[in-house]
Amino acid sequence: MRALGRLRLGVNIDHVATVRNARGTAYPDPLRAALLAEAAGADGITAHLREDRRHIRDEDITALMQGLRVPLNLEMATTPEMQAIALRHKPHAVCLVPERREERTTEGGIDVAGDIPRLTDFVAPLREAGCRVSMFIGHDVRQIEASAGIGAAVVELHTGHYCDLMAEGRSAEAARELEALREGAALAHSLGLEVHAGHGISYDTVAEIAAFPQVMELNIGHFLIGEAIFRGLGSAIEGMRRRMDAAREAMA
Ligand code: PXP
Repeated sequence: MRALGRLRLGVNIDHVATVRNARGTAYPDPLRAALLAEAAGADGITAHLREDRRHIRDEDITALMQGLRVPLNLEMATTPEMQAIALRHKPHAVCLVPERREERTTEGGIDVAGDIPRLTDFVAPLREAGCRVSMFIGHDVRQIEASAGIGAAVVELHTGHYCDLMAEGRSAEAARELEALREGAALAHSLGLEVHAGHGISYDTVAEIAAFPQVMELNIGHFLIGEAIFRGLGSAIEGMRRRMDAAREAMA
């Protein structure tokens, strides 16, 4: 089966801000990293403004909106505060994620099916403002159908569990999880949703996910910022881009 479109790479720069905030300094600057990512071939920049501002802060979003040429994908919780911020900045895309203060990262997908009326109302003004609204969900059929039902344009499938299973060498479970993600991508596409994927992706796991023909965008952060310590951010991103392109070419 041929790829349905060029696979975009969204680079998540949250953890540049994590390093900055660890010392309370002004450096390293997330915008500088984002511009470097642009130059290295990123098709978009992703940033998660968490409620506790533990990495990206409000002023980073302002700087990114003003300084970027590629689109910004703003990840955020479904709170009134975050909705107001998104409506003020009107980023290209808004990815809605679950957020509990105590978690280290976004651990599970958002429960769209269990929260349809509220999320329908939450999404509507964002759509009217011109933002592409993406729901960060697991591969569960109910969540995919509910995302289409509330008017989201995009679903981002949570690849974190698959990547964890691979890292732990649990290959049979990983293969089952990959298959479920594959079926989820096909279902979402058949319902008219644009399909993205993200969380936990590294050089070791990107090829299998990039080979899903329906997936249009991968959002990758933590691994790339870690890899940048050893080879520089530009080189780390170029290495990811090469693996994505090779996986796409192999399926053509
Ligand atoms: N996509 C979403 C919705 C996320 O919440 C995150 C983490 O902020 C990512 C992608 C990137 O995940 P990672 O940093 O593990 O590559």
